[in-house]
Amino acid sequence: MDIVTTDRKNHEGSLELAKWAAEKLNWRFVPRYRTSVPELMEKYETDKVLIAKKGMLTLVTKDGELFFHPNMAQIRVKNIRMAQGDRLVEAMDLKEGMSVLDCTLGFGADAIVESYAVGENGRVVGLEASPVIALITGHGLQNFTAGNYPMHSALRRIEVHNADYMDFLKTQPDKSFDVVYFDPMFRHPLMDSKNINPLRLAADHRALSLEAVKEAMRVARHRVVMKESSRSTEFERLGFPLMGGGKHSNVRYGIIKI
Ligand SMILES: C[S@@+](CC[C@H](N)C(=O)[O-])C[C@H]1O[C@@H](n2cnc3c(N)ncnc32)[C@H](O)[C@@H]1O
Repeated sequence: MDIVTTDRKNHEGSLELAKWAAEKLNWRFVPRYRTSVPELMEKYETDKVLIAKKGMLTLVTKDGELFFHPNMAQIRVKNIRMAQGDRLVEAMDLKEGMSVLDCTLGFGADAIVESYAVGENGRVVGLEASPVIALITGHGLQNFTAGNYPMHSALRRIEVHNADYMDFLKTQPDKSFDVVYFDPMFRHPLMDSKNINPLRLAADHRALSLEAVKEAMRVARHRVVMKESSRSTEFERLGFPLMGGGKHSNVRYGIIKI
């Protein structure tokens, strides 16, 4: 059984946050006392423990810890501010005021960059199929204190839904978002991508379907974009022409212009 607990010191607010998360996920809340995480895993026969600590949520797995932190997004936003651009923003052809449906939110790094790029008059909706990832990212986006106002407001503006993109897309009217984006778990994971290893345990690993791409093309006004590893055959299978450049990068973007 998957469980939620607090840190050992039981900082102020941890108990309330742990109980709130347990209720949202329908996981069991257990008091921490002096117990270690491996002891808890053994006792409750689980490989995942969600811990509320100092106002944030961390999922501890045997592969490492998983928590919200906008570190990569921070660097990318800084590059945009210094007019050095961002490959995803370029692939999406994002402008102020646009709307983005980010179908695979994960830890929200791409969504934060999108949110910054479309600005206060834009809209970013993030979908995440895994309840625990949706909860950690949704809570992090609303509670993490970013160092500056543009980042802070980019985080807060993202709307998070714990939903399967196929179900969500089907409910959306034609041409209701400028861009629809997919960044599925890669078919052949890049094992040197250490940040994502703990994510693998909780994430939804299903491949993108042609049916979902078709729905995305109905919902998008401007572009449908997919990220995959550079040598992936998914671009061809799903009909995504490749964006130019990036030949020396591990990842590439496929772009369907509507
Ligand atoms: C590679 S990660 C996305 C990383 C994200 N772009 C970021 O910047 O942090 C893929 C995420 O999509 C989620 N996912 C996979 N299939 C999904 C589906 N059908 N609906 C919604 N989310 C899905 C996975 O659970 C995982 O968290």
